[in-house]
Parts: sequence; structure tokens; C-alpha cells
Amino acid sequence: MDLFQLLSAELGPARVLRDELALERFAVDESGLPRFPPECAVLAESRAEIELVLRLAQEHRIAVTPRGAGTGMTGGALPVRGGIVLSTERMVRIREIDAENLIAVVEPGVTTGALQAEVEAAGLFYPPDPASLESCSLGGNVAENAGGPRAFKYGTTRDYVLGLEVVRMGGETLQLGRRTPKGVVGYDLVALMVGSEGTLAVATEIVLKLLPKPRAVATLLATFRDLLTAGAAVGTLVGRGHRPRALELLDRVTLEHLRGRTPYRFPDGAGAALLCELDGDPEGMEAQLLRCAESCEQSGAIEIQIAEDERRRRELWETRRRANPTLKALHRRKIPEDIVVPRAAIPEMLRRVDAVATQANLPCATYGHAGDGNLHINLLIDEPDSPELEARIERALDATMRATLELGGTLAGEHGVGLLKQRYLPWEQAPPVIQLQRQLKRLLDPEDLLNPGKIFP
Ligand code: MLT
Ligand code: ZN
Repeated sequence: MDLFQLLSAELGPARVLRDELALERFAVDESGLPRFPPECAVLAESRAEIELVLRLAQEHRIAVTPRGAGTGMTGGALPVRGGIVLSTERMVRIREIDAENLIAVVEPGVTTGALQAEVEAAGLFYPPDPASLESCSLGGNVAENAGGPRAFKYGTTRDYVLGLEVVRMGGETLQLGRRTPKGVVGYDLVALMVGSEGTLAVATEIVLKLLPKPRAVATLLATFRDLLTAGAAVGTLVGRGHRPRALELLDRVTLEHLRGRTPYRFPDGAGAALLCELDGDPEGMEAQLLRCAESCEQSGAIEIQIAEDERRRRELWETRRRANPTLKALHRRKIPEDIVVPRAAIPEMLRRVDAVATQANLPCATYGHAGDGNLHINLLIDEPDSPELEARIERALDATMRATLELGGTLAGEHGVGLLKQRYLPWEQAPPVIQLQRQLKRLLDPEDLLNPGKIFP
């Protein structure tokens, strides 16, 4: 029997997919990269099954690519060497919500939105909110160290993972971390696993820190005539001591794409917008929101709209979250960047992005988590493919990355390196740092079978 027949005999053919049509959805993700079909997809339902797959795959020297919900933006879940896609989409149990100790224990296939709904019903709060929260999985969030708008005040996934149960290639299970808010025993292997893009081990259980749910939320949208003014308003607002939970920037191109296609209608003629949301206690919330509005006005906002009720607030966020899917649907190709620069460098970065796009003669949509200096810069391609176009795209990406590093930034804020950014890893990190990471990878997966071909060029 070959490996796939063995797995089929153990788990049943309904959970070991071999059919070309059934495998189609495992060949793609949200990165826009070409298709990489696996030879087999396993829909695991337990830790024991993940141990079995990783043990047998090691024995047969077959590559395994772990996959959450397939919403990754850099190709992290694409099986570039074929082999097995190991999906955790059926591991959807919330095992525990403990209000006294403020933790949740979940299986990796639970969607972020499902956990949030459950903990909020219990008066608790899980802050990380990637735009794809209704479909992305917590296992994927852990693999990529997902962020989102609320990372500005609350941090990213890594700040909420207290403990992990993981299985490494070969099938050995490791219990990492803890269930308590504090703990300094040994190296922080949980922090190492979070953001390792599924290259070191597969998470089978996640212990997450929760917070009490904020009692009040208030949201405003400030529109500006142009992007640079809006970009400069970010630093001013933060410099004055305000700490909204989210501070999102959208450029004219993004606003134009969203207009008429999403629940919220941005004011006509807006050249850029800042979406600002505060949370905390109801007392003083309105006064705080007005101070943020005032700061935006003094920075040149031409209009301020305050979300008057929960429905309007939801519409605004639904509209913001539609940026990526809308741009993707309206263009033949969309090449997403995810850079971060120090907040004070946002206006200069925006200036450079504009110059790069003009020089490349390519339309570009920029939006993102401006409070964190994290900008999603998207080249929009409708021209037919040609070597000349590819060279132009590469020059534009290179120039964007160079500008980011010159301004003291980093090349990926929340989407990881995956396949898309490998070329740039040595631009940011020195050879000994890359070498050390390769050694860590080899220690856990000596034959490079777990999610091979990712991160490292
Ligand atoms: C977002 O912020 O909308 C997500 O990170 C996806 C994207 O890059 O658009
Ligand atoms: Zn984002």
C-alpha cells in the first residue's frame, strides 16, 4: 500500500481526498498566486489523526502542508511540493471558555468570528480581528500571527496565545506554554511557533487569553481631500495622546472601488479617509471621540461622520473589510503588499508609493492599519501578461521594499513571508539571522517535509 492508501484505510476515504475536483480548493488561497494542487488532502478531526499523518508522511518522505481556512495572503498554505494538504477545517470545537481565568481553549479550525461571538456573549473579548474574521481560522491566525485593525491598541495574535499543543513532523506532540497570564519557564517556544507559518509544527489546541468586553465603543470617519494630509493626521492624533483601538486609512482608489458596492457610502469627492474607533467605559467616551474629531479637523479633515448607532458602525466595518475582496474581484490581478513603517514616516512612505506607481504606470490602491504604520499597498493589474509587465511589477515591488527599509520599516506586518516575499527576506535580515532560523527549522523538521519551500529563499 502507498501512503495515501494507508491513510485512506485508517481514516476512511471520505476524509482522504484524492479526486482532482475535490482537491481543487486546496490548490489556491487568497494570495493570487498560481495553483499548486496537492496529491491528497486529509481532513483531520483529532490530534491523534494529525500525529498519524505526520508520522506516516515522515516514514514515506512525503511533504505535508498544513492548512487552516485558506485565507492566507502570501501562499503559506499552498502545497508547492505536492504531497499532502493537512486541513484542520473540521477541528472546530471551542473546548472551554473560562470567565474567571479569562482564557479560551480552542481547536485550530474554529473561525475567529465564531470565537468572538461566543466570548462576547459571555461578556468577554478576544481582540485580534483580521479582515477575514468570518472565514479565517484560529490555527491559521496562529501560524501567521494575524493582526487586524484592533492590533493598534490590543496587539496581534501572539499577544493572546498563552499555550499551544503542537505536533511536529514525525508525529511527536509537544505541550508548550501555559494557562496562566504569567510564566517564564524556559525559552518562549509559544512565541516561536506563532508566526512560523506552519513550517515548525501543526497546532492541535490553542489556549488564548481573553479580556473583559469593553463597555462602550464609538466610531468616526474623517474624510480628507488627499492621502498625504490623512497620513499626517495619524501621527498628530497619536502624538496628542489618543489611543483609539483602530485607526484605519483608505486612499482615493480604494474608496472609489468600494463606493456603491458596500453597505456604507463614503462621502463623494473624498480623497482619503481615516476610520477611528475608540473603546472603554461609557463615561467620557463621547468627549474622547470629539477630541479625536477635533484633532482630525485641525489636521485638515473636510468632513467628520460619527457612527450614530451599532448598525452604522457595523456597516462601516463591513465596508472596510470588503477592501481586499472588492479590489480582487474588479481586477485581473491584485498584488498585495503588507509593509510597516514607523508612524511618523507614513506621509513619506505614501509619497514614495505614489512615485513608484506613477513610474511603473500601474494603478495602486493603498489602505490599512495606519495606527500601526501597516499599509496594504496593492498593485492592480488589468494589462495582458507580458515579460515587460512582469519586469515593471518587479521593479515597483523592489522600490516599495527598498523605501520601506530605508524608512526604518519591515516588509510584512501581518501576512507573513510565505512564497510571495521570500525574495526580500535577505533584504531585511542579515545572513546569520537567516541561518539561525534555518537551523531551528532543521532541528524540528530535519528533512524539510513540513510546509517546505516557504519563508526562506
Ligand atoms: C485587510 O486588512 O483587509 C487584510 O489584511 C487583507 C488585505 O491585505 O487587504
Ligand atoms: Zn490587514
